[in-house]
Amino acid sequence: MKRKWPLISGLVLLAVAAASFALLSPKRLEPVNTASARFEPRQIERGEYLARVGDCTACHTAPGGAAFAGGLVMQTPIGAIYSTNITPDPETGIGDYSFEAFERALRHGIAREGHTLYPAMPYPSYARVSESNLRDLYAYFMRGVAPVRQANRDSDIPWPLSMRWPLSIWRGLFAPKAADFVPRPGQDAVVARGAYLVEGLGHCGACHTPRALTMQEKALTSADGARYLSGSVPLESWVAKSLRGDHRTGIGSWSEAELAQFLRTGRNEHNAVFGSMTGVVEHSLQYLDAGDATAIARYLKTLPANDPGDAPFRYDGQVGHALWQGDDGRRGAAVYIDNCAACHRTDGRGYATVFPALAGSATLNSDDPTSLIHIVLRGGTLPATRHAPSTITMPGFGWRLDDRQIADVVTFIRGSWGNGGHPVAEDAVRKVRRATANAASEDVAAGSGRRLIPPGRNRGADCSICPPERRTCSRNPCRLRNGNR
Ligand code: HEC
Ligand code: HEC
Ligand code: HEC
Repeated sequence: MKRKWPLISGLVLLAVAAASFALLSPKRLEPVNTASARFEPRQIERGEYLARVGDCTACHTAPGGAAFAGGLVMQTPIGAIYSTNITPDPETGIGDYSFEAFERALRHGIAREGHTLYPAMPYPSYARVSESNLRDLYAYFMRGVAPVRQANRDSDIPWPLSMRWPLSIWRGLFAPKAADFVPRPGQDAVVARGAYLVEGLGHCGACHTPRALTMQEKALTSADGARYLSGSVPLESWVAKSLRGDHRTGIGSWSEAELAQFLRTGRNEHNAVFGSMTGVVEHSLQYLDAGDATAIARYLKTLPANDPGDAPFRYDGQVGHALWQGDDGRRGAAVYIDNCAACHRTDGRGYATVFPALAGSATLNSDDPTSLIHIVLRGGTLPATRHAPSTITMPGFGWRLDDRQIADVVTFIRGSWGNGGHPVAEDAVRKVRRATANAASEDVAAGSGRRLIPPGRNRGADCSICPPERRTCSRNPCRLRNGNR
């Protein structure tokens, strides 16, 4: 008798699972022939702009692959998944998607065949996109994009984890109801436009909002509270920092105009885009028209600071003065003078729109130093954009500075010029170095345009990246000719 219990409870479980499966699995939508559908040229054009705002290409174009043909690998804790082909090829892409099926995929996260999509596709944000914008996007993907025959790749997730019905449960629990965005009563029209773009198509929260253990964003809109856009844990060793009003760790000290300029050009008076934000500027935000860039900036500036003790950054001239006098006695100061000061200057203020300021930068004042260590190890390239066509490169220092030296120099800059970041331990540098070790060769393979200095070559001689008056090439890139300025 006893042994029957497991059997019966097993059967009951199975029945419950089957019943919920039936309830949760949405119906398949029939394929349609879209060849004869008619779209206005204006609609296709608007759709192209919206596809840029939504950055569809970021995930749906593999490195070196055809536009929107999918196949980009995305790692998850249980195995890799691949983005799908969203070109209008009827067999391997979405050429047989009706508008209804397209709308369902984007706003509800359900593919035409009826399975739930992995939330790597940011449908919880797209749920807010208006139907008229979706119609324009649909027109663009049906007529503005070249069809490419390229079969989708199955995920590497092993069965039974690869079953999709748990994704339907996730969707039921965490995805918002799809509905056109409605401005709040009395909301300024420009702010409302910004909220629509940021919380919807722009899906900024996918990187900038912290996630729960179950992977949903802890807040999807500003109405959900202070965690919205409050910064996240590192992803591929880059931290998407807070976009709230905090002065030290967020964008409290940026003006609306500076922010709008940063979005469209990747740079402004004090800052330069780097890490995984570079692609967002390069593929998406540089195409914003001036009105939308201002709308996004004005909306972001409405998000209040989270730190109750928030106060404006106060520049402190002491360290700069000491360095100027040739006093590099503080730990890390000599490494800074030798490797960094040529571009970022002894006063930590950099050169406007060329070399970013280190004084007051949120990268230095945030608790998590991962991005900071990462950029010092690997360097970065400020991308060319339509309104700022020059690329500017910071060389990586991973090949010439050891973990101790990097810990020293980042600790030094986190504590100089008025910055208030905690010291960084050698061990933290070792971890980021290990985590990013393979990325260098991947960058080259992906043809991402990064100019990395390969170890052993260009030793101290890569002066092409230095301002002309600083090309000495004796030992260090950009070492100053005379003195420590
Ligand atoms: C952050 C990454 C990301 C972005 C941005 C993104 N997608 Fe996706 N999308 C995915 C992934 C991954 C899948 C496949 C999910 C799966 O297989 O469950 C997908 C699936 C889809 C599907 C379902 C296709 C099918 O094969 O049934 C459509 C349609 C789609 N995306 C359209 C878009 C459009 C349009 C945009 C821009 C507005 C966009 N996506 C932006 C990651 C993304
Ligand atoms: C793929 C992930 C990702 C997405 C999507 C993303 N960001 Fe970022 N963002 C980052 C990372 C990483 C950084 C840190 C690097 C830097 O400061 O350039 C960053 C930095 C920024 C900064 C600079 C903040 C500072 O203090 O220097 C701004 C402003 C910003 N993002 C705005 C946005 C907006 C607006 C959106 C949506 C339209 C967005 N981001 C979408 C990853 C992302
Ligand atoms: C050749 C000029 C040059 C040198 C030398 C250089 N940098 Fe940079 N630095 C840049 C540029 C350009 C960027 C922007 C990179 C990007 O956009 O990807 C940058 C970005 C940064 C940032 C991100 C700033 C932000 O926006 O928050 C930090 C931090 C940084 N550098 C630290 C250092 C340190 C530390 C050193 C020395 C070990 C150094 N840099 C040496 C040119 C330089």
